[in-house]
Amino acid sequence: MSNFFTPGKSTASLRRVRPTDRDFILDASRVFEKFGPYVEIINGWLTDPWIEVMVLETDGTKTGFIFLGPLFPSYFRATVDVMAIYVRPEARGKGLAKRMLRWAEARALAAGYLTLRAHVGCENEPALSLFKSTGFKVIKKIENYYPSGLAAYELRKRLLKENE
Ligand SMILES: CC(C)(COP(=O)(O)OP(=O)(O)OC[C@H]1O[C@@H](n2cnc3c(N)ncnc32)[C@H](O)[C@@H]1OP(=O)(O)O)[C@@H](O)C(=O)NCCC(=O)NCCS
Repeated sequence: MSNFFTPGKSTASLRRVRPTDRDFILDASRVFEKFGPYVEIINGWLTDPWIEVMVLETDGTKTGFIFLGPLFPSYFRATVDVMAIYVRPEARGKGLAKRMLRWAEARALAAGYLTLRAHVGCENEPALSLFKSTGFKVIKKIENYYPSGLAAYELRKRLLKENE
């Protein structure tokens, strides 16, 4: 578990997902339903051994989550995805998603990956700002990316410079 402090003196921590987090995650995942059947899809990701899920708690209350994967051995592929990131509405704007992305970067680097990737709905301004503010660059727009037919931007962040 990693702990960090947020403004307002509340304590936030990031820990590995537990079976008892399922209802919280699936309920929150309804926010992604305009992109397709993501409650069902995310339910599947929860039992995928290659996907790592971390849950954010603020003062003992579940406030967010991040899905990273698939973490296959990195010699198969150089890129790993932030598959989903979520913060409850009342906890937004305090830097918590940024902190979760920092965890994802450290985890991806430790697992031997060179690049972190994300796909974000083209209309999702908060998420696009989040990724851009943490150093991700828009690579391309992909029409019909999501099961619902909506388009996404692919964003990438290189974790190491060429000569590192
Ligand atoms: C996107 C989301 C995870 C951001 O969570 P958050 O904890 O509020 O984000 P942070 O407080 O860490 O913000 C980090 C940066 O993102 C940007 N940002 C976040 N929310 C924003 C908003 N509503 N409008 C504009 N920029 C925003 C800002 O650049 C911010 O940096 P700054 O505060 O230094 O200006 C949250 O809005 C969310 O859960 N949305 C619904 C789920 C979703 O769309 N997930 C992404 C797709 S997988």
